[in-house]
Amino acid sequence: MHKRTLLQAAAAAALLGASGLAPAQDNVFKIGLILPMTGQQATTGRQIEAAARLWMAQNGDTVAGRKIQLIVRDDTSLPDQTRRLAQELVVNEKVNVLAGMGITPSALAVAPIATQSKTPLVVMAAATSSITEASPYIVRSSFTLPQVSVAMADWAPKNGIKTVVTLVSDYGPGLDAEKYFSERFAFNGGKVPEKLRVPLRNPDFAPFLQKVRDLKPDALFVFVPSGAGAAVMKQFGERGMDKAGIRLIGTGDVTDDDQLNDMGDVALGVVTSHHYSAFHPSPANKKFVAEFMKANKNLRPNFMAVGGYDGMRVIYEALKKSGGKGGGDALLAAMKGQIFESPRGPVFIDAQTRDIVQNVYLRKVEKKDGQLWNVEFDVIKDVKDPGKSK
Ligand code: PHB
Repeated sequence: MHKRTLLQAAAAAALLGASGLAPAQDNVFKIGLILPMTGQQATTGRQIEAAARLWMAQNGDTVAGRKIQLIVRDDTSLPDQTRRLAQELVVNEKVNVLAGMGITPSALAVAPIATQSKTPLVVMAAATSSITEASPYIVRSSFTLPQVSVAMADWAPKNGIKTVVTLVSDYGPGLDAEKYFSERFAFNGGKVPEKLRVPLRNPDFAPFLQKVRDLKPDALFVFVPSGAGAAVMKQFGERGMDKAGIRLIGTGDVTDDDQLNDMGDVALGVVTSHHYSAFHPSPANKKFVAEFMKANKNLRPNFMAVGGYDGMRVIYEALKKSGGKGGGDALLAAMKGQIFESPRGPVFIDAQTRDIVQNVYLRKVEKKDGQLWNVEFDVIKDVKDPGKSK
């Protein structure tokens, strides 16, 4: 009898303990941020984590009465790891939102988990058009390759470029860039004599660049993911491609602000189309760049950082709007249709597609005060992902 009472008391205490803890636990709002912090895509992880932490430092860690907890996990950009980590974050940590996704295969690996668990997944980096169609719980704060590639295909033929060889990383975003650039360029009367694809993992650009040299097009159009641009630029210079009269053009991934300043003079004059330059002259961007650099030992933010920063804003605003109640569906509903001023310019989360609508800029690498920057010289406003109309 005595023993039973003790047991009952213990059970009651445990229950009380649990319910005593419950409010505190419930009060925490967890963001599971999965990024490549090591390996080939590590610069993406470093940029996005720094941007997310800057957002929290600027905007506080309490929203709608909830304490924000950022849980960062390194997937080394291997999609099996991304999936395993997402599962663990949803099941064990009970995260309210999943975010990050350094490369397309990672985002696609996590999409079914977002759907099954009704957890919003904010894609801050990966940029293949079809990603948002892989789950109704995906919202994107980065960009898409079709969105930025078309502008280059319109600019090039008006600027003396009639033949182009394309060179892309052989996976989702590269195939999107190749298709949307070359179709539009051909529509504009240009010729694409060859389309080259290099492996994503440990690419050796040398044999491809040799081939381009032999073909001698007016320009080489390049897409490689953030972090790989410096290697392309270096080998382009070493092979004397520029001296042979071949211009380098591409999406802004190749003149990535994370690496641009170390690329040297071979990068000067390279024209790219993209949604973000650290040199964007708005007051909002100047503040963002200054505060990011101050908090990160002078690291210059790149387009990945902006995807992370704006992704955090989308999550914070959704939590504010839904009053911290209602779970994944309420959050998702409050993410759709958000309009705000990003460091990149005005942006809008299209409620139908859950993809980002934004300005695309034409930019040329120039030296200003001894530093290399992507200097914007033209803009196409409010560009939707053209991949969605197919
Ligand atoms: C992607 O894998 O979707 C990706 C990664 C890096 C980029 C662009 C796209 O710069």
